[in-house]
Amino acid sequence: MATSTSSSFTTIGIVGTGAMGRGIAQLAAQAGLDVRLFDLKQGAVDDARAFIENHWQRGVQKGRLSSQQADAFSARLAKADELQALAGCDIVVEAIVENLDAKQALFSDLEAIVDTAAVLATNTSSLPVTRIAAGCRYPERVIGFHFFNPVPLMKIVEVIPGLRTRDDITERVTALGDAMGHFTARATDTPGFLVNHAGRAFGTEALRILGESVADPATIDRIMVDQGGFKMGPFTLLDLTGLDVSHAVMESIYHQFFEEPRFRPSPLTRQRLDAGLLGRKTGEGFYRYVEGQQQRPAELEIPEADARPVWISQDDPESAALLARLVTDAGWVLEEDDAPSPHALCLLTPLGEDATACAHRLGLDAWRCVAVDMLAGLDRRRSLMTTPATDPDYVNAAARLLNHDGTPVSILQDSNGFVLQRIVACIVNVGAEIAQQRVAEPATIDRAVELGLGYPQGPLAMGDHYGVRRILTILERMLAATGDPRYRPSPWLRRRAALGLSLTQA
Ligand SMILES: NC(=O)c1ccc[n+]([C@@H]2O[C@H](COP(=O)([O-])OP(=O)(O)OC[C@H]3O[C@@H](n4cnc5c(N)ncnc54)[C@H](O)[C@@H]3O)[C@@H](O)[C@H]2O)c1
Repeated sequence: MATSTSSSFTTIGIVGTGAMGRGIAQLAAQAGLDVRLFDLKQGAVDDARAFIENHWQRGVQKGRLSSQQADAFSARLAKADELQALAGCDIVVEAIVENLDAKQALFSDLEAIVDTAAVLATNTSSLPVTRIAAGCRYPERVIGFHFFNPVPLMKIVEVIPGLRTRDDITERVTALGDAMGHFTARATDTPGFLVNHAGRAFGTEALRILGESVADPATIDRIMVDQGGFKMGPFTLLDLTGLDVSHAVMESIYHQFFEEPRFRPSPLTRQRLDAGLLGRKTGEGFYRYVEGQQQRPAELEIPEADARPVWISQDDPESAALLARLVTDAGWVLEEDDAPSPHALCLLTPLGEDATACAHRLGLDAWRCVAVDMLAGLDRRRSLMTTPATDPDYVNAAARLLNHDGTPVSILQDSNGFVLQRIVACIVNVGAEIAQQRVAEPATIDRAVELGLGYPQGPLAMGDHYGVRRILTILERMLAATGDPRYRPSPWLRRRAALGLSLTQA
């Protein structure tokens, strides 16, 4: 725990001591600042103080903190009975209700109270910092200081200067975030700032996949966890956050970007919101919850199937070699001629293309074609995709073959790009566009997404990991097949793919 400050602030005012304000207060006291807490609601400050002190006491019991430290931290927390008591603060952070008028009114009131040199910081997650500042006499001292919930555990804070914020204030607030022990991600004042902007693709593309009936929520979640390495699938995450929050964020960011198709929300969540299927908090969302336990459908049972000769497309030699090894390991006959024999099972390895288009392009009979997602290899789960004409016996044979060593198999309806390919390509593309718009430095984008969203890698590193050219191919084919500008590749991605450069190359 940080115990002393290296920032230039000594006294911080916190207005609004709810979920966020109390966390910010805790970190500030730990960083050595004197903290003054104000809330309009009777008893709210006392609740917040008790909550924070209780946290420190638990730290003492667990040996993470000495009782002297806990006492010193507590001595730094003071209650402000009225706003006027914040007069001596050199920075005030507001964490009140998410409402523009309320925040502008508060900052106007504060301008009449604090010194002209004092900084006014907002913890808003969705309102433009520049717009909040526009209500102030001195907009140059207003800045976004955006923490994540729960504040002490989410080790990141976004520092967002408005268009008129002075550079020295951005520097000082960045130093304060550092002193509070968090990674400070400098971002421009754009909708969703950095982290909530970068998080748009995961849920919206999963919802499109669901909307196209490619797979059910549990299948999509399993693929993203097992093949994508995500801690949580998109539907588990939507259920955890609650659709009252996440649908509102999806709509807000989409409209703030003037209907940018990459952020287009889904009618599915609007309707589920109307039905009260908010997620875990209402006992039912995309899953049902019984005594807090998510009810998941069982894994697919793979029926018995006789071995057949197997022919593998050579679209991607590396993928073909991996599949060939699997066929011989399973003891099935591998066909190595240019064309399959009349009854061979044909395995295809498309990127961004559906199984139908791939079979057609290769001049194969669709009824015996099954596509396998090779983007993440074959290690933890195997995703198969069928054409509308694929014979169920051939689907079973493919599933049996891919499951021969017990690795779970998911079967998808035909889709331009499998589940993993689509969601990963959209995450990388949104991250690339954030870099293109210079919302933040490439390294900041990646670190902020790891810390703020818990993804296995930041979007740019993820693109490098899967191959920049492959991601571009997925997007180009999805765009060509659907005509949906949602999939248009960012110039950042196109240029780096053309030049063979890393996506982290500025
Ligand atoms: N909860 C999150 O996950 C999260 C994450 C990041 C940012 N934020 C942002 O932080 C802010 C606070 O969110 P929260 O979740 O802590 O809310 P909250 O409802 O838990 O707490 C808000 C507190 O502000 C007080 N308040 C409201 N209006 C006030 C006013 N005019 N003056 C003084 N006190 C006032 C309320 O009494 C309440 O105690 C919002 O802007 C929100 O968008 C929230």
